[in-house]
Amino acid sequence: MPEHRWDSGRGPLHTRICDLLGITHPIVLGGMGGATSPGLVAAVSNAGGLGTLGLSGRRPADIPGLIEQIRSATTDPFGVNFLLFGVDDAAVDAALAQKPPVVTYAWAWSDQDLKPYVDRAHAAGAIVTYMVSGVPDARRAAAAGADAIIAQGSEGGGHVGLIGTMPLVPMVVSAVSPVPVIAAGGIADGRGLAASLALGADGVLLGTRFLATEESPLAPGYKQAIVDSDGHDTTLTEIPDLVGGSIWPGALARTWRNDFLAEWSGREAELRRRRREVARQVATARAAGDLRHVPLLFGQDAGLIDSIVPVAEVVSRIVSEAREIIEQRLGKAIAGG
Ligand SMILES: Cc1cc2nc3c(=O)[nH]c(=O)nc-3n(C[C@H](O)[C@H](O)[C@H](O)COP(=O)(O)O)c2cc1C
Repeated sequence: MPEHRWDSGRGPLHTRICDLLGITHPIVLGGMGGATSPGLVAAVSNAGGLGTLGLSGRRPADIPGLIEQIRSATTDPFGVNFLLFGVDDAAVDAALAQKPPVVTYAWAWSDQDLKPYVDRAHAAGAIVTYMVSGVPDARRAAAAGADAIIAQGSEGGGHVGLIGTMPLVPMVVSAVSPVPVIAAGGIADGRGLAASLALGADGVLLGTRFLATEESPLAPGYKQAIVDSDGHDTTLTEIPDLVGGSIWPGALARTWRNDFLAEWSGREAELRRRRREVARQVATARAAGDLRHVPLLFGQDAGLIDSIVPVAEVVSRIVSEAREIIEQRLGKAIAGG
């Protein structure tokens, strides 16, 4: 794939999201708690997208140092992500004190007021995005003042709702217009970006694709499982949350159907009883690098990923491919060629 250079930070696919977030390409890294690192975030931002650091579960005292690491590796915009259910307000304060350019939230309880979180981030000078898996939450986030809505379909890796990206994105676009929408869930290449733009989104957010890159902090075996997956071997389950002891508001986890899943599927009641014992077994397997006996989360788009490559290559390939589809294939369809 040829190296492309675009003029003055304006990419070949320029949307409202590029202006809003100050990025060259309309491509965002999902802020995956525990699966993103300052190095991965900086790599995505340096490639012209928006890197996002997942901060859920991080100690407030560690947050300034993590953000400093991003800033020492890129001068481009980046974001930080918080899951709102069970959020640690001290962690949010620690992040906002560092003035991150973008703050992205997701997964609030139904009775949680989003506006104070949006307002606090705005007051710190950040652009605010909010990830939803359905139309009611999209309306709620737009009413709270979010600057963009991420519509995440059930194909995606990690915690997702039950509606697929294809119907969800245009429904959310219609519900929150003129607030811009970023499509997520099952997108790993330029075909996904072109399709998302056609559905009315102004950009895409990718998780699984960026997990299988050279800069991703995941264990080599995790990256290889994504590469080896044909995309048909994931399932939606509550098993990872039962083991972790958390109730996720409205989500199931898209998880690799490995030996661990096979062992516990259909035995959830027993897993509830033996949760602490099984959590210890999972920790031991993880420490030993035995990834067939731990819950591993990734999306159906693993079937579109066949190599571990640098982040910059992922971004430039996606943009080139999407542009070619829009210019050539779609243009020809109109021209009848
Ligand atoms: C391992 C893993 C952890 C994730 N953690 C978070 C998180 O902490 N916060 C969040 O907003 N989204 C999280 N997500 C969801 C991603 O941000 C993104 O929406 C999803 O990966 C998109 O689907 P894709 O994997 O098909 O690209 C996670 C996803 C994965 C695979």
